[in-house]
Amino acid sequence: MITVTATVDRWNPDPLITGKAGRIIRSGGLVAFPTETVYGLGADALNPEAVRKIYEAKGRPSDNPLILHVYSPSQASQYVKMNRLAWRLTDEFWPGPLTLVLPAMDIVPSITRGGLPTAAVRMPDNPTARALIYAANTAIAAPSANLSGRPSPTDAEAVLQDMAGRIDMIVDGGSVTLGIESTVIDITNPEHVLMLRPGGMPREVIEERIGITIEAPDDTSLKRSPGTHYKHYAPSIPVKIWRKKPGRLPKSFAFMGMNPPKSLAMKKSIIFTSIENYAHGYFAGLRKLETEDVACILVEWPEGDTGLSEGLRDRISRSAGVEVSEN
Ligand code: TXA
Ligand code: MG
Repeated sequence: MITVTATVDRWNPDPLITGKAGRIIRSGGLVAFPTETVYGLGADALNPEAVRKIYEAKGRPSDNPLILHVYSPSQASQYVKMNRLAWRLTDEFWPGPLTLVLPAMDIVPSITRGGLPTAAVRMPDNPTARALIYAANTAIAAPSANLSGRPSPTDAEAVLQDMAGRIDMIVDGGSVTLGIESTVIDITNPEHVLMLRPGGMPREVIEERIGITIEAPDDTSLKRSPGTHYKHYAPSIPVKIWRKKPGRLPKSFAFMGMNPPKSLAMKKSIIFTSIENYAHGYFAGLRKLETEDVACILVEWPEGDTGLSEGLRDRISRSAGVEVSEN
């Protein structure tokens, strides 16, 4: 298969290009496209055969449910049973990096929801993504457009690295704005909202604006969200976490973070000036540093309870293949 790349202005995409990409989706093909979080690998969410191709292209286990990307809250109501809280949340936070898990309608094929009775919906804050969904005239099922286990792609070049020859088209809308995936919450029971994956929409912003407390899921609900298992987001060389005091380090390593350890000789480094920049550059940084001649990548553990720190810590611990409990 030849993968065609077409470049668009993210804010004002050429309708000829989104139209063509929409027709590919409509006819059962695969198109990678930009969202505000990371690039997605899209297929018609209502076409089981097309969705099967997503799992195949990524090399992803097919019990892992996908997010249905929509262009409006009312489109979402065709695929999931919206409750009052869902409408409030979509009113406040859509378009944006917040994914809602709700009871699925029958038209959502079992393969799209990984066999679960629920489905996940999200309206991306990226005009190109929405123009594509609109042109495809369906919901677009889209995981991140990387090979399973690899860091998520934040630009079209990273998509091409993993997906060349595996998908029909890449819509190149430049680098994404956020850099980590959406926050996923289960609101099936509005009395007990569950955090399935911290991400681009900070927990405290949702809690404060809506007046709810988001709970940690128990083991059974986490099992129902298989994408939250580690190991994930891993480059081809080991990732080690640096929390204040570095432990034993190999002779040659690369560093990524905000406060490089003084007195340690690092071969390469990527230094960020804010947590937003760190989150934005994290996945791209892993892909860059894995090509350097170093034994491991030392990544700084971001402290702090607000903003993107919880989501970034989640991605970092998964890249390192360790479970770090949040308290
Ligand atoms: O920002 C994002 O969310 C990106 C962009 C492309 O939109 N997409 C993304 O998709 O990260 P993916 O497939 O890599 O992650 C989807 C997450 C997984 O953790 C999955 O287990 C969870 O959402 N999920 C999807 N449907 C679910 C469901 N019905 N119940 C529980 N968890 C679900
Ligand atoms: Mg992913």
